[in-house]
Amino acid sequence: MPNLSGKHIVLGVTGSIAAYKAASLIRLLVKAGAEVQVVMTAAAKEFITPLTLSTLSGRPVLCDFFDHSDGTWHSHVELGLWADLFIVAPATASTMAKMAYGIADNLLVTCYLATRGRVYIAPAMDLDMYRHPSTIASAARLREMGATILEAEEGELASHLIGKGRLPEPEEIVRRIEEDMDKATTLTGKQLLITSGPTYERIDPVRFIGNYSSGRMGKALAEQAIRMGAEVTLVTGPAQVLPTPHERLRVIRVESADEMLEACRSVTSYQIAIFCAAVADYKVAHPEEQKVKRESRPSMTIELVPNPDIAALMGKEKDKEQIHIGFALETHLDLEQVRDKMERKSFDLIVANTLEDEGAGFGTDTNRVTLLSRDGSIERSLPLMDKEQVALEILNTLPQLS
Ligand code: CTP
Repeated sequence: MPNLSGKHIVLGVTGSIAAYKAASLIRLLVKAGAEVQVVMTAAAKEFITPLTLSTLSGRPVLCDFFDHSDGTWHSHVELGLWADLFIVAPATASTMAKMAYGIADNLLVTCYLATRGRVYIAPAMDLDMYRHPSTIASAARLREMGATILEAEEGELASHLIGKGRLPEPEEIVRRIEEDMDKATTLTGKQLLITSGPTYERIDPVRFIGNYSSGRMGKALAEQAIRMGAEVTLVTGPAQVLPTPHERLRVIRVESADEMLEACRSVTSYQIAIFCAAVADYKVAHPEEQKVKRESRPSMTIELVPNPDIAALMGKEKDKEQIHIGFALETHLDLEQVRDKMERKSFDLIVANTLEDEGAGFGTDTNRVTLLSRDGSIERSLPLMDKEQVALEILNTLPQLS
């Protein structure tokens, strides 16, 4: 487990009834050796006094842009640079929305915007607010921008309603942050190559043969790998979605399978490759230079020829240290066939799924997969889960493969 000792933490406290839990949270963080700087919103002061929190943290609590007694400016930029971790606990729906859209009308949100460290947000609110599409959208946007949302817990809420919205206990918050930080370093220094999305095979300048792949699995894998510290090159066909830009992410956009192969071969050094793209098996033998006119062809036959098998070719060229992971989408899950595919393409791990499962496959947010390793040490059928979780499960197998 990583140590919080010596870490600089800005703790944002907002106007939720759970603000009282910030007191124990500060004690735990200080006990773990962290330096804690509390920033409160005006509403938070209605729930717990700055005096309590400054006593526990051993530093004056900051609430406003200026110190009203002497006019000193509280620099959000300096605080942002100082912070290794920026934790908002409890986070109200209002603060989450402001953070999500950069509405910087208080010190807490300006600090967030200036922060370069990791961001953790622990929401606490009534169940209807928690499940409101607006809150869900704020959380999704913050997640997309790299924050980790520490999900609220189920239980009795301040309104006496029972449901999701409770701030986790401070011990649990610290445990989740430590666990997440631990994960954040598992791929540090590793270079990943990921193929993603469909390929388009050109018929003429305006028409192509393609498929329904959205690129969501590739996006989830790239973002999760980045979160775990990796450097990622994503070679993507014309996908509907792309990962959020990041300094450790390089995106190479391609259209056809031939271009995808060339782009993959141009990535000269990587330790792990994940072949997630839905590559068209065939391409048009003679693509037309000019748009095909309807009158000129009362009927039309297109001759197709096989595309290169990118995973298989890269597999032949890989060295022993490199790990290759592939996908297998089958109509029926026949493990023998999957193992055969793993051999043919030199995969060390294969992620198999079938179109028979509802919620699995192309264009969905979820997937039900079975993981199989070449050496037989992994054979796990996972339940239906969202693609982010599938990505995490796949990347978590890496230490077992190397
Ligand atoms: N793949 C690839 N290049 C291709 C075809 C597939 O890199 N031309 C990769 C995919 O990204 C995936 C894996 O190979 O990781 C398996 O793809 P799949 O379509 O299941 O395999 P096919 O070789 O097309 O076999 P089949 O359709 O006959 O089952």
